[in-house]
Amino acid sequence: MSSAKAKNPKLVTTHQLQAMKEAGEKIAMLTAYDYSTAKILDQSGIDILLVGDSASNVMAGHETTLPITLDQMIYHASSVVKAVKRALIVVDIPFGYYQGDCMTALKSSIRIMKESGAHAVKMEGGVEIKDAVKRIVSAGIPVMGHLGLTPQSIYQFGTYTVRAKEKEEATKLISDAKALASYGCFSIVLEKIPAKLAEKVSKEIPIPTIGIGAGSATDGQVLVTQDMLGITQDFNPRFLRRYANLSQVIKDSVKEYIKDIKEKSFPNEKESY
Ligand code: KIV
Repeated sequence: MSSAKAKNPKLVTTHQLQAMKEAGEKIAMLTAYDYSTAKILDQSGIDILLVGDSASNVMAGHETTLPITLDQMIYHASSVVKAVKRALIVVDIPFGYYQGDCMTALKSSIRIMKESGAHAVKMEGGVEIKDAVKRIVSAGIPVMGHLGLTPQSIYQFGTYTVRAKEKEEATKLISDAKALASYGCFSIVLEKIPAKLAEKVSKEIPIPTIGIGAGSATDGQVLVTQDMLGITQDFNPRFLRRYANLSQVIKDSVKEYIKDIKEKSFPNEKESY
């Protein structure tokens, strides 16, 4: 165990994440949307659990992250909070609940913190969300930023391809990352950008970067749990490493269950009262 972890093995804090960056210890983050899964991930030693608005895709079956509501995010987050003993829990503020004005953003964050018991919020965008980030941070709520491919802007991008390949967008991303750090963000997700750019940002800003499709030089990595466990089957981007094929495990188990019922071998005497 590293010295950063040894100091506080029970609960991961934003300060501990900062210490991990400074010590060169990589940060591991996964998404979680429900109690049972969050418990397993937390018991496995994950540092950060993100109640991502990807719940809109993964849990609700929507095509984008745009439809999910604040109430739905709070429902997912409060289920995760009940399961977790160690990980830092970060919750996405969903589309439409922070872009308008900084008081709306503050109220959304306060609802997330009060009603779910989570530890931090995450927001997509750079300098354009300056007032909202500063207002939330000044209320004592830790904020994680999110730059690069920000899925709440998918209709502006028009495609899920790699962002910031051109100089102009890369330059804006670097200045946005520096700005978010100066507003008080404790960390920034960098999604689907060139590895070299992510490396430069990670070196130039003082707070931890968490990459997804951003190469190996970020201070940490995040994947959607259902993707890395092979529960989702139709999403195969280059950055995704699958650690299991749970969809096959589930199908095989369910087929066996159905067979046992049809053959009248389940339940047996020992499984009956
Ligand atoms: O909503 C989400 O799951 C995310 C991660 C992909 C970073 O924002």
